[in-house]
Amino acid sequence: MGFVRRLSLNLKFVLKSLFFLQYVPQAFLYSIQRDRLERQYISQPKSQSLIKPGKLLQATATDRGVHFYFEEVELNIDFLTPDFVRVNWSPNLPPIPYAIAYNEWEKVDTKLAETGDNWTISSNTLNIEVGVAGSLTFSNAKGEIIRSELPPQWDNQQWTHQAKLPAEEHIYGLGERAAKFNLRTGKTYQIWNYDPGNIYRPGVDPMYICIPVYLGLHNLGSYLVFYENTFRGEFTFGEDAIAKFADGALRYYFALGEPQKLLERYTQLTGKAPLPAKWTLGYHQSRWGYRTERNVRQEINSFQNHNIPISAIHLDIDCQVGHRAFTIDPKRFPHLRSFIQELAALDIKCVAINNPGIKHSRHSNLFLEGQVLEAFCTYPNGELVVAPVWAGRTVFPDFTNPTVRAWWSHQFAYLLNVGIAGFWNDMSEPALFVTWGDPTMPKVAQHCLEGRGGDHREAHNVYGLLEAEAAFEGIRESRPNQRPFIVSRSGWAGLQRYAWTWTGDIVSTWEALRQTIATVLGLGLSGIAYSGPDIGGFLGNPTPELYVRWFQMASFFTFCRTHSSTSVEPRAPWSFGEPYLSIIRHFLELRYQLMPYFYTLAWETAQKGYPPVRPLFWYDWKDPLFWDREDGFYLGESLLIFPVLQDGVRSQTVSLPSGNWYHFWDDTFLESGNSYQLEAPLEKIPVLVREGSILPMEENDLLILHLYLPKSGESEGFIYSDAGDGYGDFRIDRFHLIRHEQHLQLTWKQEGNYPFPYANVQLTIHGASLQNASVDEQEIVTQGQSIQCQPFQQASLVFDPLL
Ligand code: GLC
Repeated sequence: MGFVRRLSLNLKFVLKSLFFLQYVPQAFLYSIQRDRLERQYISQPKSQSLIKPGKLLQATATDRGVHFYFEEVELNIDFLTPDFVRVNWSPNLPPIPYAIAYNEWEKVDTKLAETGDNWTISSNTLNIEVGVAGSLTFSNAKGEIIRSELPPQWDNQQWTHQAKLPAEEHIYGLGERAAKFNLRTGKTYQIWNYDPGNIYRPGVDPMYICIPVYLGLHNLGSYLVFYENTFRGEFTFGEDAIAKFADGALRYYFALGEPQKLLERYTQLTGKAPLPAKWTLGYHQSRWGYRTERNVRQEINSFQNHNIPISAIHLDIDCQVGHRAFTIDPKRFPHLRSFIQELAALDIKCVAINNPGIKHSRHSNLFLEGQVLEAFCTYPNGELVVAPVWAGRTVFPDFTNPTVRAWWSHQFAYLLNVGIAGFWNDMSEPALFVTWGDPTMPKVAQHCLEGRGGDHREAHNVYGLLEAEAAFEGIRESRPNQRPFIVSRSGWAGLQRYAWTWTGDIVSTWEALRQTIATVLGLGLSGIAYSGPDIGGFLGNPTPELYVRWFQMASFFTFCRTHSSTSVEPRAPWSFGEPYLSIIRHFLELRYQLMPYFYTLAWETAQKGYPPVRPLFWYDWKDPLFWDREDGFYLGESLLIFPVLQDGVRSQTVSLPSGNWYHFWDDTFLESGNSYQLEAPLEKIPVLVREGSILPMEENDLLILHLYLPKSGESEGFIYSDAGDGYGDFRIDRFHLIRHEQHLQLTWKQEGNYPFPYANVQLTIHGASLQNASVDEQEIVTQGQSIQCQPFQQASLVFDPLL
């Protein structure tokens, strides 16, 4: 490294350190005040003897299930569907239903029976035996035990809930984790949204989005449990599953069924991620460090000069006046509105950051308005909670107050008028700067909690969720024909209704790249369907190879964004020159060609709640071979991706899930159940396509249906299309593929009013040599393995099998 470059890097480092040092005195004062007031207002719990349910005395059938009376407590079991129940132990502080999106459950037929000292309540799919001392045993229609719970225990307000785990059981979920995909490690995972700051690396716990939901998978089946409790919790999955919560209700939901069904049920309860605008599935470029409009313009020009597709550019806190929420610095971004209009002509959107904290200053209108509204969190003595975040001394809106949410929602109109298309909610745990202790609000900070009142111990985990809700509603209100795009760092159960997420400030290492797969899969199984990493890592400078491998992987995630810290070298697809630039361009072009596939998956997510990025056990959940796999993932049902996870690796050994597969890059046929050594030169990662797939891709106004010849049988596929944003007409094109001995028959049925968005259709056959073809009984000239035609009802492709 040259002397000048070293000097400039050192200088940069010194300047950045000075930047962070400015917060230290305030952080110190805040940490002292927080500790003092917490000591003053939090009394130590008096020791009390452990409460157990006692003996079961009586059971009464209810509309939806049964109510049990124990000596010490009561238990209510409600069937929401035949395979989904709500279990509520009382007395308790009923949770505010922040997670819950749906209440209109139909009536379920249940039977209550007394069996000796125990009782059993059953639907046609699920039996729950309630033991005389408060144990619950869930079994399926065959009578196989799926989960056995011990009687719960209360100690002061805290409670512990324990379930026995069969030796082979695997556990997944709990929101965002920098952990192994299978959480059955014996470690304890915290439920307390947390900004790990610059120590985020694999193994750190907790993280920004903690959700008390998990999926258990064992030899006899799978189930999901969601605890509707926003207080601090901890989960340990060792010999048993142990859940502890510091306070609040012991209310949980239990679903029985295969993983897909579990996600359907969980998102029926907590909401499905709505269909996003199409542009959001393209590539996003971001950097903490675009200090001026000129910087952003240069970045966009570079995208054009390098011929790299891009859909969105993100503005970090640099665009703001003194890092204040809802501001744009007119000195440094003098023509942002017209610049955004220029970007619109290029199909590029602008996304702006927002932090929840409001600068404590009489020169801030938001502060003045918020004070009059009593919008900010206070200590029990009425003093405002003031702590340093990026804008300096900051106060924090109480998003558990509906009036405050409505006020916050109105703030979006201005930035929407500037042309900002999406919002990036950062620091929403909320994260505060401290010199020691928990980097968030004091436990004693007061919250409205929808009028019931309470403190931060109850509100903390839902703070980011409710901030996202306010943003979502604000955009909906100001732009009723625009689908809101919000990416939120924090959240809780139900976040998917409002926002996507990214996996935070991860370090630039190979371990972090590998970690991303488990983290994204775990988020997906916790209902958060849209997520992705800062490509290349946030903290640090990736080597060119690490950046390329990270890019190749992220091209198949739902959220595809490069982002990096201000303290590292600027990073964009061309940063490392050739051959890296061409490789990245190729992967991004592929992502855009796959847009009909991505968009159709997004529609399926909105209907069913499935994450588009799925674990390898998703279709083979009965086979333990796939329970531990975190070396690859599905994108939908057709594509299987095996990213390269180590430096210098040029081939991968992968064992394949069921079904036969084609190598995407060269059509090599791979038999199910075998293990293969697949080539992974720098310019490629193994991408496989399921046989029988009808993989839709697009190039300009041509729709290309790639037909992957199955060995035998039939398959189906569909494409969802609409205007790409808004709530207008849509269409679904459904395809049915039948393999005959020497010809393929493809039938096409169309639903919906949106006009067919392509000028032409191409059918391309894989795994066979195309001989001739006809469409609606008219012969079509073949071009290699393809034909081009107009939409049809039935096509027939005669081939010579290569298999
Ligand atoms: C936080 C965010 C990061 C952002 C930075 C400055 O660290 O996680 O993405 O760039 O704040 O706003």
